[in-house]
Amino acid sequence: MTQDELKALVGHAALAHVVRGAVIGVGTGSTVNHFIDALGTIKAQLAGAVSSSDKSTERLRAHGIRVLDAAEVERIPVYVDGADEIDPRGHMIKGGGAALTREKIVADLAERFVCIADASKRVDVLGRFALPVEVIPMAVAQLTRRFARQYGGDARVRAGVRTDNGLPILDVHGLRITDPVAMEAEVNQWPGVVTVGIFARHKAALCLLGTAQGVQTLTFPAQPAAAR
Ligand code: A5P
Repeated sequence: MTQDELKALVGHAALAHVVRGAVIGVGTGSTVNHFIDALGTIKAQLAGAVSSSDKSTERLRAHGIRVLDAAEVERIPVYVDGADEIDPRGHMIKGGGAALTREKIVADLAERFVCIADASKRVDVLGRFALPVEVIPMAVAQLTRRFARQYGGDARVRAGVRTDNGLPILDVHGLRITDPVAMEAEVNQWPGVVTVGIFARHKAALCLLGTAQGVQTLTFPAQPAAAR
């Protein structure tokens, strides 16, 4: 199977985790696009969707699915999104599609994060995929130096990209993230960082992994309350 076929497989499998009659949280990316297409087949059973990007909003609306503003919902049962990497504990790197800030906001509304990914995203230690960080422009040089000093990371501005919030992305290369919870907490409080693309506090509850043998379901223990 091609990578896109694996993405389609898990995108459709995620329908089993959608709570009928409720609002669904929807992520961003090529895997989620397949999920949105699958959602279109059950749109009458949905109370609506909260979306994490303009692109996903557009696709949801094209299917006739009502998109609600995040401010209109207090809690949603499930958020479905892809990942750039996922480790054995369900921690993820996200933001390859530059939607990380809104993704984290919608994930924070949800009881459960259901990750959908092809098998290439499964890693033992996060960091081979350059870590995306949404930043305030005036802090770019300062943050670049800080990543080098503190983590030995090589941060580069993603050329020609602005997020839906109008901000640049730094991609940090050369990391080996052995303690994602600690690194997320640390980087999040650096002045100029809007969102770091480590999803450890908002890690996956389960992952539907697309493999040549079919969909593999990985489940992860919840993050201790103190870490959320
Ligand atoms: C979007 O910003 C990302 O977090 C995506 O969820 C991630 O890049 C996975 O994308 P694909 O499904 O396109 O591989």
